[in-house]
Amino acid sequence: MRKKIVAGNWKMNMTLDEGQKLTSEIVNMFKDEAVTDVIAVLNPPFPHIFPVKKLIGDTPGIALGSQNCSNKESGAFTGEVSAKILASFGVEYVILGHSERREYFKEDNELLAAKVKQALANGLTPIFCCGESLEIRMAETHESNVKFQLTASLFDLSPEEMAKVVIAYEPIWAIGTGKTATADQAQEMHAALRRHISSKYGRDLADSISILYGGSANPGNAKELFSKADVDGGLIGGASLKSRDFLDIIKSF
Ligand code: PGA
Repeated sequence: MRKKIVAGNWKMNMTLDEGQKLTSEIVNMFKDEAVTDVIAVLNPPFPHIFPVKKLIGDTPGIALGSQNCSNKESGAFTGEVSAKILASFGVEYVILGHSERREYFKEDNELLAAKVKQALANGLTPIFCCGESLEIRMAETHESNVKFQLTASLFDLSPEEMAKVVIAYEPIWAIGTGKTATADQAQEMHAALRRHISSKYGRDLADSISILYGGSANPGNAKELFSKADVDGGLIGGASLKSRDFLDIIKSF
């Protein structure tokens, strides 16, 4: 059985008060509405890690993630945050390879491979993002594009390491644009990614990996997306900043 995961990516949003309010609301709704079966991961900006962890406490089903980690273990790297530091604050997941990191911060496949290694070495679960631009989709090379992203950053992992990775398929043209991939488009890509993982690591391992969809997912389209065989959850940006919307997405399974 694959884990169902809905991860909220707050991106560079939320002051301290706003973040605490949002977290408290999510924790309370999660308990009151007796959500089971789905793991909710909150991925706030770094300064929120400690207060959000305190608010989550030991609520079953809610985990803490971060939006990035360093490719280095420790030392003189001003402004960086290591996977080891994050783990010591109770962080369990880390989003790596988000298209915004690739585009605005020039993170390449090699750097991402090193970040994935650091995350795994420190017990964090990487939520590894892949996805194609509109240009690539129009050229109909989207499948080979995302497969290459996986090969280049993940396929040096041992099977034991690979089994711990979560994948997020995020078509860039659907992020923050209000344009969602159709459920069929998402399913097609998730199945292609799973086949690709299977070609290297075997069917059983590929079948055990959660593949999340990201890109303008919302309470109105989550049910259809999550009904697809290879869609195991979502990576949610905008809609994760509203507690009711985030919960409704979680409850769309
Ligand atoms: P969005 O962002 O839901 O706002 O489109 C998704 C993401 O970037 O993770």
